Amino acid sequence: MMDRRETNPVFRRVRVRLTMLTVGIVLLLYIITSVSVYTIVQQVVIRSIDTRITGIVNQLATTDVQTVINSLSPESETYLLFVTPNQFMTNLPPSLDTEVANLFNTHPRRSHWVVNFSEGDNQFRMVYFPIGVSSADPTMLPARYILIVTNITRELAVLSRLGEVLLFVGIAGTVLATLAGFFLAERTLRPVRKAWQRQVDFVADASHELRTPLAVIQSNLDIVLDHSNEGVLDNLEWINNAHNEARRLSKLVADLLTLARSDSQAAALHMDDVDLSALLDHLVELFQTVAQAGELSLTQEIEPNIHIQGDKSRLHQLFVILLDNACKYTNPGGSIYLSLASQKGGAIVRISDTGQGIDEQDIDRVFERFYRADKARERDGASGAGLGLAIAKWVAEAHGGKIQLQSQVGQGTTVTVQLPL
Ligand SMILES: Nc1ncnc2c1ncn2[C@@H]1O[C@H](COP(=O)(O)OP(=O)(O)OP(=O)(O)O)[C@@H](O)[C@H]1O
Ligand SMILES: [Mg+2]
Repeated sequence: MMDRRETNPVFRRVRVRLTMLTVGIVLLLYIITSVSVYTIVQQVVIRSIDTRITGIVNQLATTDVQTVINSLSPESETYLLFVTPNQFMTNLPPSLDTEVANLFNTHPRRSHWVVNFSEGDNQFRMVYFPIGVSSADPTMLPARYILIVTNITRELAVLSRLGEVLLFVGIAGTVLATLAGFFLAERTLRPVRKAWQRQVDFVADASHELRTPLAVIQSNLDIVLDHSNEGVLDNLEWINNAHNEARRLSKLVADLLTLARSDSQAAALHMDDVDLSALLDHLVELFQTVAQAGELSLTQEIEPNIHIQGDKSRLHQLFVILLDNACKYTNPGGSIYLSLASQKGGAIVRISDTGQGIDEQDIDRVFERFYRADKARERDGASGAGLGLAIAKWVAEAHGGKIQLQSQVGQGTTVTVQLPL
């Protein structure tokens, strides 16, 4: 199984492509989600920092500066610098003096600004508010201003941790999605591969089956040609052989065509009202001669006037296949019995024979294409290709019905066909 999978380049390519598609979609969704999450959290964090800062500014409007400074706990690591022509108040630690002075000197004095900076392992956000800048004289420097500095290391750590987690989950997710995608692609392809293999087997078996009658026809005609100085009657045996094989061949080709069409859904049924009772009556009559030739008794019990919706010629084909099998696999002296009855489940057709029966291990497989339970008969040339029951099953199921087979070696076989009314 593994080998076939690897050696079929079509499936390998489709599998890789399906996997890439799955991973691509998962990755795209993940990137969109994580970028959104990160952006939202980032905004929340920045807003909480800004609320802390504006809280202090609001306090300054109603409280005197020293009280505000006193209210800033050391743990909050928030510092205030308040300057007027005759006042200079701050709780800024000396460690931040240089950095704050640098930034203060390199930024404009007359407008409000915000800047982030780092000092040692810590990150800070600094906000500058000029107070009382006159718009009439743009060159005038503010007499009063406020600087607020707050430690934002913890908030930024939360953000970078979130970024790390998102990245890690993304990488792990990609690996998982690749594995899952590969597995899912395999599962998706399984029925396709099965159908593909069935077709490959079908073509191989069909070619094999076609070769045998062709070889027989050819060798018999070769003999006839070798005796070209003789008349037709002298070569009747060879001509007859070739003729029989040609008939077998044309039945085989017709069966193959039916099955190939059933696969491609091209064999649409021509549904019509079918008088099943009349159809079976007619078939039993037709098969009387076959039964007589095989020294079999063929009896029937057909409930009259049972009509169903169906394709008459396909139903004809279905019951020919079953009657043909019953005659073919029943030894002289045996009997065949056909019955038709209507039940609430539908029309029930039963064809029983007292023939050789089918081995238990073969019962499930006889509906497979080219499967023949009785290999012994194959050799004497009397048997068919093993397509009959495969076609019968298709016809029954295409009508929404069922076909079942019960058999016991040496006792006989009963085939039951159930068709909806
Ligand atoms: N009534 C039956 N009694 C005993 N064996 C049967 C009977 N019907 C089918 N079988 C077994 O099932 C196999 C499959 O049947 P199926 O009709 O599909 O193929 P076939 O008769 O061998 O060939 P074909 O019908 O294509 O000419 C047969 O080869 C035979 O061994
Ligand atoms: Mg058959």
